[in-house]
Amino acid sequence: MSNSSEAELLHTFKGIPFTTRSSLELLKSLDTFDAREDDVLLVSYPKSGTHWLAGVITKLYNTQVTITSPIEFGDISQLEELNKLSSKRIIPTHLDYNMLPPNFKNKKCKMIYISRNPKDTAVSMFHYYRDNPNLPTVDTWPAFFDLFLKGNVVCGSWFDHFLSWEEHEDEKNILFLFYEDMKKDLPKVVKKITLFLSLNVSDSDIQDICKKSSFSEMKNDTEKENSDPTHTVCALTSNRKLIFRKGAVGDWKNYFTPKQNIRFQEIFNEKMKLSKM
Ligand code: A3P
Repeated sequence: MSNSSEAELLHTFKGIPFTTRSSLELLKSLDTFDAREDDVLLVSYPKSGTHWLAGVITKLYNTQVTITSPIEFGDISQLEELNKLSSKRIIPTHLDYNMLPPNFKNKKCKMIYISRNPKDTAVSMFHYYRDNPNLPTVDTWPAFFDLFLKGNVVCGSWFDHFLSWEEHEDEKNILFLFYEDMKKDLPKVVKKITLFLSLNVSDSDIQDICKKSSFSEMKNDTEKENSDPTHTVCALTSNRKLIFRKGAVGDWKNYFTPKQNIRFQEIFNEKMKLSKM
């Protein structure tokens, strides 16, 4: 990664790397952001299946809901825009728990945290970095692997992010989901989401929504939606081809060397020793 591009594209706030598209002023203002009781937060570390989950959730509502861009992205006017929205807000965020505006916590807003095997997350993020001009250049997988393990990537350490949220897993207003469970049995996970959000959706509608949310369906939609930049919850690209890449479990095996796997596992075991995962 070249230093000059890194300096231009990333900056650090409270110890976490953010893209410079998250203005310092906005990041500082998050603490005073006014949440609404019916806001729903979609929380994830990048590349964990945020768009998939967002696609499912918007299909579950039959009233008008607006899926906003991530709360931490943009300049200060982003918060004003959010305040102006009259419809129910589904707000994506990659913030770790400690940085979340306290008002969401005080008002017990519903929050859905989606997580994914960090090895697959790392590989997905590598491709995203490589193909996205808004992120620093990484030339090789081994170089990215090191950055990822050090938490020297946008949104910081996967481990810190996961642990900050896992600590609150048992709170009633927080639902924990796993990408791998969605791959295994999407209707089951969607049912769980409807119960959590108190939505009355029939089993046949759930089946229909799951069909429309398959990887191939969502990827196929990319062409028509590419022209509409509001159609992506990803703040760093409006190019959906960058988001719907492979959609598989276990792609890490095509990238990790045995040595890298051992190193990852050692760090995972150390960092996650207090985790229930
Ligand atoms: P890959 O890069 O491994 O393919 P996010 O939305 O958080 O940025 O996550 C992007 C990852 O979710 C990408 O992973 C993408 O392919 C995968 N994804 C998106 N939609 C999906 C779907 N409908 N089914 C399975 N995976 C999906």
